[in-house]
Amino acid sequence: MEGRVVLSDLEDTVVGPPVVADEHDKDIDRVLISEREIQDKLEELGEQITRDYAGREPLLIGVLKGAFVLMADLSRHIHLPLEVDFMAVASYGAATKTSGVVRILKDLDHDLEGRDVLLIEDIIDSGLTLNYLLKNLRGRRPASLEVCALLKKTGIQRVHLDVKYVGFEIPPDFVVGYGLDFAENFRNLPYIGLLRPEAYRDI
Ligand code: IMP
Ligand code: MG
Repeated sequence: MEGRVVLSDLEDTVVGPPVVADEHDKDIDRVLISEREIQDKLEELGEQITRDYAGREPLLIGVLKGAFVLMADLSRHIHLPLEVDFMAVASYGAATKTSGVVRILKDLDHDLEGRDVLLIEDIIDSGLTLNYLLKNLRGRRPASLEVCALLKKTGIQRVHLDVKYVGFEIPPDFVVGYGLDFAENFRNLPYIGLLRPEAYRDI
């Protein structure tokens, strides 16, 4: 029977070890922020944003690639009509140190004039990327412009930034997971982790 064949095929696909996550987990030294902690925080931030933007229709702008996971989860905790758009910028090469150079690789599809814009960032490290983006976006005359970042490294920003919504303040170590990569890996981990020092050498 056709139905049975499809169902058993599906079971074969769904059941089985999470191969990718296991492969990644061996490179993680320590979980800094668990999946549960992240999801609880996003619920809290979502409620706050829902209250703050009541009666308006915000435009959420995700900074690729890092913010793609945050955008998907956070936007579902905001109980308002909203739109999303993405920008891709490059501020890092494969290395873990900031270059201070920001290039726009993909620009927005939306016109920002008169919009309530909420910029969604994965992490604020030196702050140079965000500083550049805010200046750039302000020039497009939005009605308002705020930032929501999942992570902010404590005390190492090289510019002053007003960030209205911050998930977690973390020590200034290199982290991966939940959208954040090292050499394009680890973005799909559901938590934020610290890499084992060997992993930097192996990749
Ligand atoms: P900033 O310009 O130094 O603030 O760096 C911002 C960008 O660098 C982020 O959007 C990330 O893509 C990347 N980045 C900064 N710190 C980390 C980290 O600890 N892990 C992974 N990527 C990072
Ligand atoms: Mg990166």
